[in-house]
Amino acid sequence: MPADFGSKNVIDPQEYDAFCHFLATACGIILGENKQYLVSSRLARLMQEHGIVSLAALVQDLKLHPGSKIHTAVVDAMTTNETSWFRDGYPYDFLYEQILPHAATKHKNLRIWSAAASSGQEPYSISIIADEFLKNKHHSRISVNIVATDISQSVLRSAKEGIFPQSSLDRGMSQARVAHYFDEKEALWGINDEIKRRITFRDFNLLGSFSALGKFDIIFCRNVLIYFSSETKIDILARIAVALNPQGYLVLGGSESIANYSDSFNVVRFKNGVVYQLKK
Ligand SMILES: C[S@@+](CC[C@H](N)C(=O)[O-])C[C@H]1O[C@@H](n2cnc3c(N)ncnc32)[C@H](O)[C@@H]1O
Repeated sequence: MPADFGSKNVIDPQEYDAFCHFLATACGIILGENKQYLVSSRLARLMQEHGIVSLAALVQDLKLHPGSKIHTAVVDAMTTNETSWFRDGYPYDFLYEQILPHAATKHKNLRIWSAAASSGQEPYSISIIADEFLKNKHHSRISVNIVATDISQSVLRSAKEGIFPQSSLDRGMSQARVAHYFDEKEALWGINDEIKRRITFRDFNLLGSFSALGKFDIIFCRNVLIYFSSETKIDILARIAVALNPQGYLVLGGSESIANYSDSFNVVRFKNGVVYQLKK
């Protein structure tokens, strides 16, 4: 039997509220009003495959079986994974022009966290910048380790594979970098092991404790806070401040800001954007 909104495209307001509450609790994502179409378009097929006939039945199942296959699949389906290579430019210029040279003077081992890594373009872009810096500036006495995490297991699987269609490369990857860092396999492009090797991929919910991840010199937490409530933003930014080494940096998305959510950071203007530096 198909999910009832699959055929009638109508969601009972109480069922919608219950689903929104589930999603906010499971991963922080706030759907807001009038996003019924998003729920029905993203879940109808999944519910059909699992023989679940209504949103109320789905919520009941999700509550009874946290960590089940369908729980993972629903969270996967409700995340928005939009990303691109070297997104917005300035964070990567900042890394190349400021962070890496500074680390090199101290022979430092840099730890970078890509906290909502999606299908991998962000951590791979960071690793390419590290590679270019180390080769161009002949620095072999610093190492760069990147931890790439995301709550969505399906995007994380693609990220780990590191194989991209041309349409992905068209969004921000130059011809020169394609030639240098990718191998073509049956009309798909696989990223070099050298670039992959610096990255550890891990499935991770930003609502959970960060303590097992260790300390970082830079945290990229880009284009994910926008989906969360003010309380969740405040909480995550406070915990990011704890996860950073002294004077470490936080990079948010181009449309995101710490204003009203955290006073632990100084604003550093760089080119056409800003990054945030821990005050202590
Ligand atoms: C729009 S993408 C941003 C990707 C990349 N950071 C960028 O800026 O291009 C947002 C990512 O956040 C992830 N996400 C959403 N809620 C999350 C949570 N509670 N914990 C970890 N990741 C989450 C989604 O799965 C998605 O891949």
